[in-house]
Amino acid sequence: MVQDAGSSRPGGAADALVVFGVTGDLSYKKIFPALHNLARRGRLGIPVVGVARGDRTDEWLHEHARQSIAEHGADVDDAATTEVVKSLVFVPGDYQDKGTFERLQAALGDAQRPLYYLAIPPSLFETVVGQLQEAGLTRQGRVVVEKPFGRDLASMRELDSVLHDAFGEDDVFRIDHYLGKESVQNLLYFRFANSFLEPIWNRSHVSSVQITMAEEFGVVGRGALYDELGAIRDVVQNHLLQVVSLLAMEPPVSMAAGPLRDERVKVLAAVRPPQRADLVRGQYLGYTEESGVAAGSTTETYAALRLHLDSWRWAGVPFLIRAGKNLPVTATEVLATFHRPPQHLFDEALPRDSNHLRFRLGPDRVAIALGVRTKRPGDEEVGRNVELFMSDDAAGVMTAYERLIDDAIDGDQTLFARADGVAAAWRLVDEITDGHDGEVPELYRPGTWGPSAGDALAADVGGWHEPAPA
Ligand code: BG6
Repeated sequence: MVQDAGSSRPGGAADALVVFGVTGDLSYKKIFPALHNLARRGRLGIPVVGVARGDRTDEWLHEHARQSIAEHGADVDDAATTEVVKSLVFVPGDYQDKGTFERLQAALGDAQRPLYYLAIPPSLFETVVGQLQEAGLTRQGRVVVEKPFGRDLASMRELDSVLHDAFGEDDVFRIDHYLGKESVQNLLYFRFANSFLEPIWNRSHVSSVQITMAEEFGVVGRGALYDELGAIRDVVQNHLLQVVSLLAMEPPVSMAAGPLRDERVKVLAAVRPPQRADLVRGQYLGYTEESGVAAGSTTETYAALRLHLDSWRWAGVPFLIRAGKNLPVTATEVLATFHRPPQHLFDEALPRDSNHLRFRLGPDRVAIALGVRTKRPGDEEVGRNVELFMSDDAAGVMTAYERLIDDAIDGDQTLFARADGVAAAWRLVDEITDGHDGEVPELYRPGTWGPSAGDALAADVGGWHEPAPA
């Protein structure tokens, strides 16, 4: 039985964390390093029970956790690593086997409010949730699930009903790690902590908004999983639509989970069903030779999309989104471009991109830049584009998983996706992908900005903004 490590959490917080799939990739790369960071900040303080198939021992899991933290942690602290290891109890066993859940119950001791992290394929949710329920372990429990949450609206609803058999919506924490990123938090903060922005943050002043999520690498060992998804379901349905929501939402009445999530969801409801010409799908040359990828696969590794929001604030402002693997850089940026000044006063035609707001969301620093035109010193009335710039090194401050696990333990749902929001995103993605699944995507060379048709999509807004390398 685990020892209660003592807790500084508010009432109603989880008093144990149970990780299903504790020997898997997600646990190794993200969950253990996040637990280490929580321990370093004095925020772990609850027992962690790892569950996985196989017959490994506690000692094996302890060593595995140490290795994970050494390999994927930052600023590793020995005392914090030791705290994670000491908190960790292993319950090996098959998910079909009742005995596994009896042993889990024993390991949980008198924990009243366990948080179950399902770091397992969605196809296993039903078995695990059913077993937890039968063992009487779901009563006060909460559950954390990962994206992709379904692959369309229908499968999302099925998964949801599996979870809702045992947990209320208030106890379901759907992770979209973008919402936990420092840079994405800052985007929300910047929008509503400054009064200068709100009067101009609308169709009268903003001419277009674009978001690029570029990755310099391919599917790196995730070929089989990625091939089932493609860029639209892997990152547009979740990360990029969340960013659109944060950019376009109305001010919430408060920053509490309810009002904030209400406003985010309203944005998705305002997106007009895209036309066929609003989507370009691409695939990098060599993708079908990647391990795990089906021969002749038509999965897209690049998607560019043009969205329109039928709202008072944003009507007529194109929102352009593109995401791709094997592009020239790894960087995610938002560029909101403002209208050109209405009067021609100087000796030069002002370029269309001289006034903008640029948010760098990753991978390296949190940055916000205000693009302005200033006069070039000298005789002539000519200028240059410059950026007024803020940049914080967010590395090591708080990782997305650390923030999200911390919040889930506290029972704070603010940074998690609500069922109606996920459903709205899938509804939109179903419309986007309708008739395109199975279509052969345009090929592009690795290291380029994707197919030329993607460029054409942004031609009328002055082309795509290309984020600089880290
Ligand atoms: C994941 C996607 O959700 O996000 C990956 O499945 C993608 O394909 C990753 O590479 C990017 O996240 P980050 O935080 O590394 O930019």
